[in-house]
Amino acid sequence: MHTLWILITVFAFTRANKYCPGEDMSAKCLNNEVIMMMDARLVQGQIGACRTDEIVTDVDTCSVDVIGIIDVKCSAFQVCSVPVSNVINANQNTCHEIEDHELFLEASYQCVKAIGFQGNTCPMVVDLTSNEPKYLANTKLTTTSQRATSCPWRIKADRGKHINMTLWDFGFASTDDHSTVCSLYAIVVRQSGDLTVCKGLTRQRHVTLVQNDTLDLYVLSPRSQSIGFLLEFSEVGCPRIRDNPEYQNVSQNNSIVIIQCTTGENKMLECVDQKWVGETCINIGTRARGVGFLIVILMGIFE
Ligand SMILES: *[C@@H]1O[C@H](CO)[C@@H](O)[C@H](O)[C@H]1NC(C)=O
Ligand SMILES: *[C@@H]1O[C@H](CO)[C@@H](O)[C@H](O)[C@H]1NC(C)=O
Ligand SMILES: *[C@@H]1O[C@H](CO)[C@@H](O)[C@H](O)[C@H]1NC(C)=O
Ligand SMILES: *[C@@H]1O[C@H](CO)[C@@H](O)[C@H](O)[C@H]1NC(C)=O
Repeated sequence: MHTLWILITVFAFTRANKYCPGEDMSAKCLNNEVIMMMDARLVQGQIGACRTDEIVTDVDTCSVDVIGIIDVKCSAFQVCSVPVSNVINANQNTCHEIEDHELFLEASYQCVKAIGFQGNTCPMVVDLTSNEPKYLANTKLTTTSQRATSCPWRIKADRGKHINMTLWDFGFASTDDHSTVCSLYAIVVRQSGDLTVCKGLTRQRHVTLVQNDTLDLYVLSPRSQSIGFLLEFSEVGCPRIRDNPEYQNVSQNNSIVIIQCTTGENKMLECVDQKWVGETCINIGTRARGVGFLIVILMGIFE
């Protein structure tokens, strides 16, 4: 939900549209982007309602979530086209037929910037320090399978921050592969043992929160590249508190830092929204000096 909210605010370019039976639902993004479906549902409305801008508000209207069907063809790809009749056929008996009513598609999508081929450097570095989530799309990685398993991706956050990794699995609804064998998407390198990321049955899945500002992983692709997925990375927490001659000692306990100042005072900082909040030793020092100067100047004026 949190990720969805970020997506809505960052990629405000939403296209919501109705598609009639007989039409195609098409989507297209720029070269460095991929499609991410936001919503796709079959809606039962009066014949012709799909040609109007009106929103079908009738609460009794049958409405079926079909995002899984559209995801397989569209999400993580740059362009796609899905015949609405195919989607209707796949959901033939889900709604009771009503006279003068028909099923049509309502869908919206976002274009998400996705990291592509990084030249021949190794490791292939993704810098998170812009404070926005970054996406790796398997469909954009035109590396050979040999390179995919020999050269890792290195995700780098600001020093001291942690990395949150989420999988958008657009094959979650595809029925061809419900076997227990892992269809391998990625391998996250960890000191405690590698973490394998397999195709699953949920669209959005939290993978790991790495307590480190660096994360290495290998991204593989399903053999045919017919299923798209996105790996989302975002920074969590606050940057490392830099060494400072005014700090005697810095001790951190999760989102709380205690600084012992050379003056003997203790200062507490709290990590809120990726920023340290609170007073540090040096703030106190400069403010006290500033007030002192002000008093001296005022005394000078009034004498
Ligand atoms: C990590 O990402 C998940 C979504 O996969 C989100 O629910 C969670 O709040 C994030 N964790 C932090 C600490 O931001
Ligand atoms: C963070 O990751 C780097 C590179 O993988 C590793 O060398 C380092 O030991 C890790 N630090 C911690 C605190 O796990
Ligand atoms: C710094 O503070 C921590 C926690 O109060 C303490 O355990 C540690 O011994 C201190 N280190 C120094 C060098 O004073
Ligand atoms: C860290 O903070 C938690 C909760 O504020 C506390 O329960 C825990 O004892 C603290 N750990 C250390 C090492 O100070």
